[in-house]
Amino acid sequence: MSQFSDQAPQRPPNPRHTAVVGLQWGDEGKGKLVDRLAGTPGVFDAVVRYNGGANAGHSVVVEGVRYALHLVPSGILAPGSLAVIGNGVVVDPERLIEEIDGLSARGVDTSSLVLSSRAHVVMPYHKAEDGLREELLQASPVDASSPSKNVIAAIGTTRRGIGPAYADKVQRATAIRVGDMLRPELLRSKLDMICGLKNSVFRALHPDEPEVFDAGAIAERMGELGRRLRPMIKDTAYLLNGLDQEGKTILFEGANATMLDVDHGTFPYVTSSNASSLGIGPGTGVPPQKIGRVIGVVKAYSTRVGGGPMPTELHDATADRIRERGREFGTTTGRPRRVGWIDLVALRYAAIVSGATELGLTLLDVLAGFDELRLCTAYATPEGRTERFLPDGFELAEAEPIYETMPGFCEEITGVRSFDDLPGPACRYVERIESFVGVPVRTIGVGPDREQTIERDATVAAGGLA
Ligand code: IMP
Repeated sequence: MSQFSDQAPQRPPNPRHTAVVGLQWGDEGKGKLVDRLAGTPGVFDAVVRYNGGANAGHSVVVEGVRYALHLVPSGILAPGSLAVIGNGVVVDPERLIEEIDGLSARGVDTSSLVLSSRAHVVMPYHKAEDGLREELLQASPVDASSPSKNVIAAIGTTRRGIGPAYADKVQRATAIRVGDMLRPELLRSKLDMICGLKNSVFRALHPDEPEVFDAGAIAERMGELGRRLRPMIKDTAYLLNGLDQEGKTILFEGANATMLDVDHGTFPYVTSSNASSLGIGPGTGVPPQKIGRVIGVVKAYSTRVGGGPMPTELHDATADRIRERGREFGTTTGRPRRVGWIDLVALRYAAIVSGATELGLTLLDVLAGFDELRLCTAYATPEGRTERFLPDGFELAEAEPIYETMPGFCEEITGVRSFDDLPGPACRYVERIESFVGVPVRTIGVGPDREQTIERDATVAAGGLA
C-alpha cells in the first residue's frame, strides 16, 4: 500500500472559484448554502451546475418563500450573476421550461440563465427506460437496503431518465445534445435511427405492451423546445473560461452528492454522474486547479433516498423523530428519506475525494432533545475492524457501524447565531466531526432560513488517521 494519508488534504487557499458539494447521499442543504454565498450581489459572477439533471432537488427559502429547483442553478435567485447549466448536466427540456415558467410566474428574472450546447438531452424514451429497468429489477426478491453479495436490486432511481441519458452519452451514436435541438434535419435523422433501436429494445423487454416512440413526433416537439431555449444556448466552456480570464468569480454548485458519485459512491447504488467535486472539470470545461475553495456540505446526521447500503440507518423512534424534525421527505419525489446517525468513515472519504477545504454543517438544530448522540467512527466487517470506507456497495452492506457516543443537548438552538452560544455538548459534537474528518466546520445551519446560520472562523483540529 502507498504512503497515502487518510487525513483530508489541507490545500493552500486560492479563493477565486468556489465549489459547493454534498458529502453524503444528497439533500444536505446545498441550496441554502449556495444562496447564502451567492445572495450578495457581486460576490459571484456565475453559478454553475455541472452534473446530474432533474433528479436533483434544491430547496431554497428566500424571505420566507420556498423555491424548489431541479435543473436551474440556485444562482438564479442571486441578483447580478449568470446561472449556467454546464455540459455535464443531462437536461430534460420539458422540465427545464416548466421550471423557468414557474420561476417567471413568481417574479424571478430568468434572463441570466445559460445552457450549454454540449449538455445531453433527457428524451422521453430515457424516462420510459428508467422506469422499466427499475420495474424489472424490483421484480427480483432482493431488499435494496441490505443487498446481499452478487445480487442486484432496484437502484430506487428518481425515474427521471438520468441513467439512460448518461448511458447514451457514453454510447455516443444514440445521444442527443442540446445543440442538436437546433438542427431539425440532423435531429430527425438521428431520431429515426435511435427510435428504431429503442423500439426494438422495448419490444424485447416488454413484449406484451411495448412502448413505441415516434421519431417524427419527438423530433417536432424537440425542435419546438429548442426554438424556445435557443437564446440561452451557448458554448459555456468558452463562456466560463472567459470569465476566469477576466478575473471574475465562479461558484460551482454540485447536485446529488459524493456518496452517489458513479465512481466513488456506494456503487452500484449511485447516480450516473460524478456527483462529487471531481465532476467539475469534465462537466464544465474549467480545469480543477482553478478552484481553491471546496465547501463540503454535511448534515448533522445521515439520510438517503432510494436503495443501497447505509451502515448507520435507524428504524426506530429516533429515526422517526429526526425525519419529522428535519422534514426529511424528498424534494424531487416526496419519498420519506431513510435516516441514521452521522457516518464519519464515509464522510472522511467523501471529504478526501471532493478535496473539501471546509465543511458546512447543516441541520444541527434537528438533533436537539436527544440524551446522547452517536457517531460512526469505524466499521466491523467480516475481515475485521476498519476506519476506511469500502469501495463496493455489496461489501458495505455487510459492514456494521462501530459508534462513539457523546452527550446530547436538550435546548432548541434555532435562535443561536454564535458558536460560543451553542450548548457545550453541541460544540463538542461539531469539534468531534472536524477532528475526525480533518477539515474545519466553518458554517453551522440551525434552521431553514438563510439567516439561521452560525459563521465560524475555525482552523482545524488534527485529523484522525485510519
Ligand atoms: P437517479 O439519479 O435517478 O438515477 O437515482 C439514483 C440514486 O440516486 C437513487 O437512489 C436516487 O434516490 C438517488 N438520488 C439522485 N439524486 C438525488 C438527490 O439529489 N438527492 C438524494 N438522492 C438522489
